[in-house]
Amino acid sequence: MFIVWFGATPRLTISDPAVIREIFVVKSELFEKNESPPLVRKIEGDGLLSLKGEKWAHHRKIIQPTFHTENLKLMLPMMAKSMEEAVGKWTSKMPNASAGKVEIEVSDWFQKLVEEVITRATFGSSYQDGKAIFELQAQQMVHATEAYQKIFIPGYRFLPTKKNRISWRLEKEIRKSLLKLIDRRRKNSSCQMLSDECPNDLLELMIKASLKESADESSPSPLAITENDIVEECKTIFFAGTHTTSNLLTWTTVLLAMHPQWQEQAREEVLRVCGARDTPTKDDLSKLKTLGMILNESLRLYPPAVAIIRRAKTDMQLGGLHILRDTELLIPILAVHHDPALWCHDVHEFNPARFAKGVAHAAKHPMAFMPFGLGARRCIGQNLAIFQAKLAVAMLLQRFSFELSPNYEHAPSVLMLLHPQQGAPIVFRKL
Ligand code: HEM
Repeated sequence: MFIVWFGATPRLTISDPAVIREIFVVKSELFEKNESPPLVRKIEGDGLLSLKGEKWAHHRKIIQPTFHTENLKLMLPMMAKSMEEAVGKWTSKMPNASAGKVEIEVSDWFQKLVEEVITRATFGSSYQDGKAIFELQAQQMVHATEAYQKIFIPGYRFLPTKKNRISWRLEKEIRKSLLKLIDRRRKNSSCQMLSDECPNDLLELMIKASLKESADESSPSPLAITENDIVEECKTIFFAGTHTTSNLLTWTTVLLAMHPQWQEQAREEVLRVCGARDTPTKDDLSKLKTLGMILNESLRLYPPAVAIIRRAKTDMQLGGLHILRDTELLIPILAVHHDPALWCHDVHEFNPARFAKGVAHAAKHPMAFMPFGLGARRCIGQNLAIFQAKLAVAMLLQRFSFELSPNYEHAPSVLMLLHPQQGAPIVFRKL
């Protein structure tokens, strides 16, 4: 345990899994999420990621079914179609069918693929309108993230710099377009069946909940879902789901390019399980054990979210220390995942075999692996992220062998998330 100063705020850093267990399991009601700075809230939306208390619980209950396994299985054909379109574009860039190879900056490409899937999960049948809105949000996030890099300059976000002005304009446009879309879906909602393609899209679930709550006039609730809540939750899901999942895909591809023996082992499994099928089915995906282990090892070595922060709601004893109310606690996921006392001497090596007996037995403590967080506030999109990643990597393995480009430079860096610094150029060869 030690203190790290984040600007003027001291944060107690805790990497002992026994104390981490106290925070997320034993004494979880004594902790809450800390307040993100206003600029971060602008980027992440005022939704599930930042809400607290009853309002958070109410939203989580409504949104959860979007990410249930059964619902995700219905999205599989759409995900596979997006993948096939992209892979088709790569193949067409290859000079000839047999010796063809192509260099791709995978991080940008995975980002687009993931954005497509999150757009479907959020908007379902209103996909086209949703896509245009999320394209604006992707741009807005780039401009706002640049302002975030200057977060230590007081008042920077209020200065009318060119980038800030673009970001403000985009923010207004996103809000206006989302409100328009919500209004249209609201009008249709009572008669419209949910789309077959994505029966539980987030927008529909939230609109139905808000209509039901406003119809129940006998007990108007302060928690009732408003239009503004729906806007903020759409923004949050896009923020929380896109870069995280595309980072997982990027790091996994980089690691498999660095470790051809694991790439071969994973390919052998995919080809054996899928047989002649070009696209893995939902049952195929559940049988891809080696690929599951590889994704876990990738999340251990390069967890997209590098830390979690909590705030003590009251004075208390924790890990042998007396903690004062409002103390901020930082749980450094990246450091815990690289602790040799928990993961043995090969902690910095890529060794998916450590997950062979399941996540709970991979380290010396079951709380040592937490890429999706822990406890009640663990990631709501975990299933979607893993489902997408398995499908995308399996489809790549079926079609290509790949290696690092000579232009690749291994230089992970943290800007909100853990990124490869150079966009991860990878050379793909057709099998
Ligand atoms: C929460 C990581 C994908 C939506 C979290 C948290 C982590 C995390 C560490 C906990 C934050 C905390 O406790 O303070 C990841 C990683 C992902 C991923 C590593 C991919 C590899 C997704 C996806 C979505 C999503 C695909 C949605 C489509 C959310 C939301 C929360 C969350 C809404 C807040 C949950 C709550 O507080 O109730 N994620 N995430 N995430 N994630 Fe993810």
